[in-house]
Amino acid sequence: MSDTLAGSVTPARRGRQPWAVRLGLSPRFHAFCARVPGLRGLARAEGAALFDIVQGFVQSQALLALVELRVLHRLAEGPLPLAALAGPAGVPVERMGVLLRAGAGLGLLACRRGQWRLTVRGAAFLTVPGLEAMVRHHPVLYRDLADPVAFFRGETVPELAGFWPYVFGAGGAADPELAARYSALMADSQGLVAADTLSLVDFGSVRHLMDVGGGTGAFLAAAGAEYPGLRMTLFDLPAVVPGAAARFAAAGMSGRVEIVPGSFRDDALPQGADAVSLVRVLYDHSDATVAALLRAVHDALPEGGRVVVSEPMAGGERPDPATDVYFSVYTLAMQTGRTRSAAEIGAMLEAAGFAGVQIHKGFRPFVTSVVTAVRPVNDAAQKSV
Ligand SMILES: C[S@@+](CC[C@H](N)C(=O)[O-])C[C@H]1O[C@@H](n2cnc3c(N)ncnc32)[C@H](O)[C@@H]1O
Repeated sequence: MSDTLAGSVTPARRGRQPWAVRLGLSPRFHAFCARVPGLRGLARAEGAALFDIVQGFVQSQALLALVELRVLHRLAEGPLPLAALAGPAGVPVERMGVLLRAGAGLGLLACRRGQWRLTVRGAAFLTVPGLEAMVRHHPVLYRDLADPVAFFRGETVPELAGFWPYVFGAGGAADPELAARYSALMADSQGLVAADTLSLVDFGSVRHLMDVGGGTGAFLAAAGAEYPGLRMTLFDLPAVVPGAAARFAAAGMSGRVEIVPGSFRDDALPQGADAVSLVRVLYDHSDATVAALLRAVHDALPEGGRVVVSEPMAGGERPDPATDVYFSVYTLAMQTGRTRSAAEIGAMLEAAGFAGVQIHKGFRPFVTSVVTAVRPVNDAAQKSV
């Protein structure tokens, strides 16, 4: 057997690699691992991990089919035989059998004595807020990635930006129907983000919180419920904020929330809050827009006021398996944004005049992580020196 991979990596070139990579490049080493009991398990696990990467797209599409054909939803009502799932879905029995077994392979379904049922993972999929809506909007992203080489070369015009029209400025997001569609997707998934943000940051000393780019108010409603004395301001685009009033009214919070329509690209931010949150806002925008926004937030805060940035963050020096794959590619397809690491966000906060940057790594980085900073006391004096 030749000891090179596809004849492309010669032993001489391999010699420049770290020893573990040199072993990985050696088919002889792979054959050796397959024979040695302790190493065999390791080699299998590594092979399975590699195959998982290879089959990722097929996994996602099988999940999408299970969702679109409402298989998971129907099984949430109770176990069913194959034929009862195939008929109403308009899928031939044999093909539905393939899909159901794929669902079982993904750990979402199981079959016992001819009856298909949900597993705990399948049930969780239906229960996690926003997950189903996220899966259902993925065809847009996958179309954008259909030719990944052209996509990464920047030779394609991704559709995804059209789903998030504000990325090209407030004027792009003037259509209330479009705004309602993306706001619903964000509000659905805000439950987890809010829960993680509120457990990572103590807002106990905050008197008045302004949520910039706060959508229809899901984060503020969660913060207001946890801190009953908190005053709040919601700032978002005019096409978005009308959806917020009903939420605050239903939560009995109307009296302590002010809703301010506006664009942080064109309008000044309201004054008066001693903390500003930016939840899943920065990653949509270019460095120049983010730098200007952070400066505006700094200027809207009093000395000692705090900024709280919460969003999925890249791993930086140590790329993260979720955020450096899913979110970084997603924001690249949006064309204007970027998934930044906590350290990059911290550096941008310092460049905008903040100090005391603290990184609160999320326990579910694919949901969110948080970076906080404060506008320094005597800041105005410092600026004039
Ligand atoms: C990804 S969504 C996040 C919404 C909410 N913070 C959340 O996490 O669910 C980004 C939000 O930023 C708002 N936004 C985008 N550009 C804006 C601008 N120029 N001025 C004000 N809000 C803006 C959008 O309307 C949208 O509600």
